[in-house]
Amino acid sequence: MENIQGMKRTHRCAELTVADAGKEVVLMGWAQRRRDLGALIFITLRDRSGIMQVVFNSETDPELHEKAFQVRSEYVLAVRGTLALRSPEAINKNMPTGELEVIATELRILSKSETPPFHIEEDSHANEVLRLKYRYLDLRRPDLQKILMLRHRVAKLARDYYDENGFYEIETPVLGRSTPEGARDYLVPSRVHPGKFYALPQSPQLFKQLLMVAGYDRYMQITKCFRDEDLRADRQPEFTQIDLEMSFVDVEDVIKVNEGFIQRLFKQLLNIDMPVPFKRLSFNEAMARYGSDKPDTRFDMELIDLSDVVKDSGFKVFSDTIASGGSVRALNARGGGSFSRKEIDALGEVVKTYKAKGLAWIVVEEDSLRSPIAKFLSEEEKSKILERTKAEKGDLLLFVADKDEIVFDSLGHLRLHLGEKLNLIDKNRYDVLWITEFPLFEWDEEEERWVAKHHPFTSPMDEDIDYLDSDPARVRAKAYDIVINGYEVGGGSIRIHNQELQQKMFNLIGFTDEQAKERFGFLLEAFKYGTPPHGGLAFGLDRLVMLLAKTDNIRDVIAFPKVQTASDLMTNAPDIVDDKQLEELCIKTVEKSE
Ligand code: AMO
Ligand code: AMP
Repeated sequence: MENIQGMKRTHRCAELTVADAGKEVVLMGWAQRRRDLGALIFITLRDRSGIMQVVFNSETDPELHEKAFQVRSEYVLAVRGTLALRSPEAINKNMPTGELEVIATELRILSKSETPPFHIEEDSHANEVLRLKYRYLDLRRPDLQKILMLRHRVAKLARDYYDENGFYEIETPVLGRSTPEGARDYLVPSRVHPGKFYALPQSPQLFKQLLMVAGYDRYMQITKCFRDEDLRADRQPEFTQIDLEMSFVDVEDVIKVNEGFIQRLFKQLLNIDMPVPFKRLSFNEAMARYGSDKPDTRFDMELIDLSDVVKDSGFKVFSDTIASGGSVRALNARGGGSFSRKEIDALGEVVKTYKAKGLAWIVVEEDSLRSPIAKFLSEEEKSKILERTKAEKGDLLLFVADKDEIVFDSLGHLRLHLGEKLNLIDKNRYDVLWITEFPLFEWDEEEERWVAKHHPFTSPMDEDIDYLDSDPARVRAKAYDIVINGYEVGGGSIRIHNQELQQKMFNLIGFTDEQAKERFGFLLEAFKYGTPPHGGLAFGLDRLVMLLAKTDNIRDVIAFPKVQTASDLMTNAPDIVDDKQLEELCIKTVEKSE
């Protein structure tokens, strides 16, 4: 193989413009394609900036032409030549450098390539499993390169923005103790302390609070977090947060500085203006209107509560549900009256995956209602339903009766499904909002106790502190999430900095003093030495990049992602380790019992 000795790259391919025509240039990159036209060979050379056509002419240099003939896809080349303007009929308007070509005078083959398992091209249709196995080839694709460059810009912008606002970037440990975010931990065994384990951080939560106790005032960090939880299209077992914490602040201060960041991000990267302040919805309102605490507000189709209308209904599914404390709510899928019976049944399957027992429906026709439940409803009920849902001819009304939790979850997801199916979502729009006033607690059915909805250091709202003992369900938290187009892209809270209140919080979630001390003793100890009021937030960097890059697959925004089963198809991690390693760690593995 040849090397680059004596040859120095002058430009990246797509950095050249017509203004450079006539210059001698040296380019280096990969052969995207070779075309032979008799006396002429065209090679498109690719680097991270884009592509450039290089021409080899057998009449002017037969030896060079012969060498170019040996070039195959993905060979690595160094080319010297003169940048020329293409003749008018050869101009390619679809290519940024389509008016240019390099007339080669020297070619070196720096490295050969086997035929790649798939063609390197934009919008690859190659199977994702194959692409992930050969991720380094997949990453040569311009669309992925664009996304990773965008990701770099986001991180750079974040560092600059928070720096300008007085934040210091401070690193926190990766090997640590279990943190309180509530997912399963990834554990790392200690060799020096047999039988003991580090936990990888689910977030730097406790450390950033300690940095506030330590007087750093404003902290930020772009950091990896690890959570062993079920993966979804927007979830990875290791992901990246833009994490921050501030002292001497309340909810409004945290919201304001982060609105500024999102505003700058969208302006600088997509030239989109996002007027501040962003919209806000309380958790309760978001659930009632959209059935979700991360609603996609790019389209309407809100949930409609019909409980009062059907509470005495002859349709027992409805009246019995209400009698037992549940609710009956509906969606009006405008224009859905044209769906076939099969399509409506498929909607029933959607809600069933969210535990709904069924999906009742009414199609509004010219002067009648087509519905399996209409016969059970009184005239008055029917007319009130039509009035409340503002139903018109051609509409499809869809009802779920259940306890609120299931009604919200199933109709919330059905709403999203219908938004896609009925093409209601403007994909060029970015809708950003804050969800505030989350409940402080959640009832854990399995453990039959209250658990912290965010984490146990989240402060209750001042106006609700009196209900901590009498009615925990009613207590709202100083917690907030930021939602864009139905994605939760960030969340945080104001923390408790008062020891008695913290104690009470632990008692309410069923931690004894000993348990609290065992898990968070170092933090509680620190809080005894002068704790400033503080609060913060963490953005999911991957999700922000997904939105900016308009992809709904989190793997597209991570250089080396994991698949559904949390494995890396390229390196084959996780894998078994040597017996010797296990021995050193005093670990014996056993067969998993089913
Ligand atoms: P939270 O748990 O809400 O808060 O996480 C913050 C943000 O991180 C993103 N995120 C994820 N992204 C990809 N894959 C995952 N598995 C994943 N899990 C979370 C989301 C989420 O909004 N310490 C608190 C923050 C605080 O209170 O300051 C925390 O971690 O976009
Ligand atoms: P059934 O009387 O069980 O045959 O149900 C009649 C209609 O009501 C069917 O279309 C069911 O899908 C629907 N249905 C059943 N249970 C519920 C429920 N909990 N909420 C809404 N619709 C339901």
